[in-house]
Amino acid sequence: MNLVVVSNRVARGKANEPMTGGLAAALLPVVENSGAIWVGSSGRVRDGFHKEPFAEIEALGSGALAMLDLPAAHYGGYYEGFANSALWPALHSRSDLIRTSQGDYLSYREVNAFMARALLRFRKTGTAFWVQDYHFLALGAELRELGVTEPIGFFLHTPWPTSSVIEGVPHHHELVEAMLAFDLIGFQTALDCDNFASYVREALGLVVQHDGVVISQHGRTRLAVFPIGIDAEKFASAAAKAVSHPDVSRLRRSLNGERLAIGVDRLDYSKGLVNRIHAFDRMWTMHPSLVRSVSLLQIATPSRGGIEAYGNLQSEVARLVSDVNGRHGEVDWTPIRYLNKGYGQAVLAGLYRTAQVGVVTPLHDGMNLVAKEYVAAQNPADPGVLVLSKFAGAANELDTALLVNPHDIDGMARVLAMALSMPLAERRMRHEAMMDKLRRHTIQDWFADFIRALQDIQSEGTTQAGSALWQRRATHSIARH
Ligand code: F6P
Repeated sequence: MNLVVVSNRVARGKANEPMTGGLAAALLPVVENSGAIWVGSSGRVRDGFHKEPFAEIEALGSGALAMLDLPAAHYGGYYEGFANSALWPALHSRSDLIRTSQGDYLSYREVNAFMARALLRFRKTGTAFWVQDYHFLALGAELRELGVTEPIGFFLHTPWPTSSVIEGVPHHHELVEAMLAFDLIGFQTALDCDNFASYVREALGLVVQHDGVVISQHGRTRLAVFPIGIDAEKFASAAAKAVSHPDVSRLRRSLNGERLAIGVDRLDYSKGLVNRIHAFDRMWTMHPSLVRSVSLLQIATPSRGGIEAYGNLQSEVARLVSDVNGRHGEVDWTPIRYLNKGYGQAVLAGLYRTAQVGVVTPLHDGMNLVAKEYVAAQNPADPGVLVLSKFAGAANELDTALLVNPHDIDGMARVLAMALSMPLAERRMRHEAMMDKLRRHTIQDWFADFIRALQDIQSEGTTQAGSALWQRRATHSIARH
């Protein structure tokens, strides 16, 4: 199968360089080995987008990476406007943060249509397309309109919330209808898949069969769950090696016997940073013996800075960190070490291994690969403890982590103190159980499972390929150009 993978953000070959977001870092090693062509945004924009799309193409493993300049007139409306100020907040159940316009939606659709046109040049006999994430919900429909008959799969890295939340997204009906042009739609968890199926039943009035197949006017779409994993063995050995990395050894030296908790997140309201810092504040207040003996290293990589909600969050977190440090700190002790920059995977692996507690407490998260990486990075003979939000997709598999409700500040403070006093035997037992699950379901398995499901659809001859419907109907009614 000649595979074309599409995502907004792509990663450029060097695993040791800082990367934004879980998707790009997770996809890099598997795409590299698959021989696929990975197509995404170059991060640059260009005028005159109706002309031949401009792509910078370079080798990536046995395949290639194609980075497209997106249309200047529509990039802001597409990325900041609709994808990240309508879809992202809704997908993370924060409809109160939706700020978007009709213009943003039009730009989102234009960029989806632009991407579809750009993909045609990578289409050969036997091609299958695999579209990633919420930036390209309408890409399958756009490809069908251009006459693409090959299988098209889609995987959503974020949660899919309940119908009443999705109904807060302007044009939700049209978008979900367009999504049904995909042959296969993958979700991180059964809950996400069920929520989507409920919307399809209730809002679109369609039947979802017990095998997850929806028959719409476009043809058959299969809904299924593919929880994303990591390469646990590779991460574990990177962590063992990383102890000698200068950043990691400097951190170790600076601790002077003090214990460390670590949080690593994009600076995003879905990550629960404010609640987490309140929980540490409460922990130091409730357990004065932990003052000077436990600190938090919080890495919060700035993200989507042009969006007001992110700017506000950055100021709020910075203020809160400074307040907590001001109250609990000493002349020679800083409770929270707060860093606004990204680190490469190799350094992160070493930082995770240095910390006795990993704190992953999002309010909502599709999966959260930091949770999995923290576990894989531990020394099996003396592992740290993962404190994990029950609202992260990872909690389904990592059920021997200490699961918390990120809205319950007192509860989190209690669990953090419990993590710090957990006996070695219990830490090992919990860690082994989690490692076992991580080894049994790796990122390679995730990739292979999805491709197999797409191939099955192709070999059964049940793709939406060539459906005459696609020649006849326009998938959305808005005027173009
Ligand atoms: O679905 C999550 C995701 O696609 C991850 O890659 C990452 O957490 C984020 O969204 C990407 O954000 P951005 O590309 O806007 O920095």
